[in-house]
Amino acid sequence: MNRPDGMRLSIARIMWMTLRGFKFDPLAFFMKVDELYGPFSYNELGPVRMWLINDPELVREISVEKAAHFHKSRLIRESIKPFIGNGLLLSEGDFWKRQRKLAQPAFHTRRIESYAQTMVDFTEQALAGWRDGDVRYIDREMMQITLQIVCKTLFDANVSGEAARVGTLLTEVLEASNERLNAALRVPEWLPTPRRQRQKAVLRELDALIGRFIEDRRRSGEDKGDLLSMLLEARDDNGAGMSDQQLRDEVMTLFIAGHETTAMALSWALYLLAQNPAALEKLQQEVDMVLAGRAPTLADLPHLPYGEMVIKEAMRLYPPAPGFSREAVEPTEIGGYTLQPGEMLTVSLWVMHRSARYFAQPEQFLPERFSKEREAEIPRYAYLPFGAGPRVCIGNLFALMEARLMLAAIAQRYEWQLVPAQQIVPQQLITIRPQYGIQMKLTQRQPVLA
Ligand code: HEM
Repeated sequence: MNRPDGMRLSIARIMWMTLRGFKFDPLAFFMKVDELYGPFSYNELGPVRMWLINDPELVREISVEKAAHFHKSRLIRESIKPFIGNGLLLSEGDFWKRQRKLAQPAFHTRRIESYAQTMVDFTEQALAGWRDGDVRYIDREMMQITLQIVCKTLFDANVSGEAARVGTLLTEVLEASNERLNAALRVPEWLPTPRRQRQKAVLRELDALIGRFIEDRRRSGEDKGDLLSMLLEARDDNGAGMSDQQLRDEVMTLFIAGHETTAMALSWALYLLAQNPAALEKLQQEVDMVLAGRAPTLADLPHLPYGEMVIKEAMRLYPPAPGFSREAVEPTEIGGYTLQPGEMLTVSLWVMHRSARYFAQPEQFLPERFSKEREAEIPRYAYLPFGAGPRVCIGNLFALMEARLMLAAIAQRYEWQLVPAQQIVPQQLITIRPQYGIQMKLTQRQPVLA
């Protein structure tokens, strides 16, 4: 059967765009393709050919029913593997299954609940450093907090003193990955460009840091019951432990996957609330009533439903992970077409979450659509910030709990306003982040006690 042709963007056109200094904007591109050709199309992007699939039923087929017919796409592998190696995000087959089973207990509800206090403590510590009238890049603030949380909860490592440096290093890694992802015209790997040299230095520094975590724990021999201990104790059928290289890859993967995503969910939530004062007021009323001025705890979460609705709606409009990408490993029928081995597909959450096909008033920030009564109206598989099926985000409960606790702690103590005349531009990197940051003016507030 003929392919449902979408857009052709020739190499010549991409070269011209590159020479003219235009950057390829995947968010706008995917939106345009969907508008012109619908939720299922076959596209040529210079030398890259891929299916773009934003139809919930087809997304279910790919990620659940026929998940075993697909691997992560080579586009993703080639762009991030040099940095995170063969950790959970990129491994495949039986090896992935084994590693996932090993890591899973660290993300079970009971275990995650024990992280709540740490999440609140690091947030409160950051808030204690803010002053009335401060102007801050809120996205950077969120990244520092979530990085400290992931280090402490999963690796029992305190990086408070180094958080800014580690944050910078990880940002460099993410940017380098993205550069590789978006580079239609690749520079051969062996060319030692200054940027490549810098990336190598960044990786060396990060490797040294992770090596220190592992070494310290090996030396102490202590079982702290955290993810690092679980990984260190894991044995295969022959009784062999994980190699240092594999440990390093798993730790780096969790570093990368586990902090910027949640930080982005929060940054966009704060941004949307700044533009929707009625929603912010409702959130603050809820927080004041439930917390009455004290720090939030795990037990408060069931009583803070509006906060959860805000986070979910923020992740609809600004999905921290912009989508997911796969490659067929065997001939697979999807929507009446057969994808041949090696053919790639991308699901754009940005497009699907903003489609009028599945959401009324899709551009509006309406947390109420995630109320208990209304959430079931959302078509299944149309809202997937954490993906679906066997490769669903292992950190989804962790992230939701973290974002809800952090939002409650922040909303209780501060008001925030966007600094005027700044450009807020969502940019698709490995996450969707504000290209120039989000500057907020912070004003201290006192909880209004009933
Ligand atoms: C709001 C926050 C987060 C979002 C939106 C998010 C989103 C996602 C998505 C969409 C996937 C699936 C990718 C695919 O199918 O190709 C994924 C996978 C993954 N995420 Fe998250 N994530 C978040 C937070 C976290 C956290 C906090 C952690 C760990 C601490 C984490 C660790 C992982 C890992 C290890 C995978 C790979 C799982 C596997 O393939 O077995 N994520 N995430």
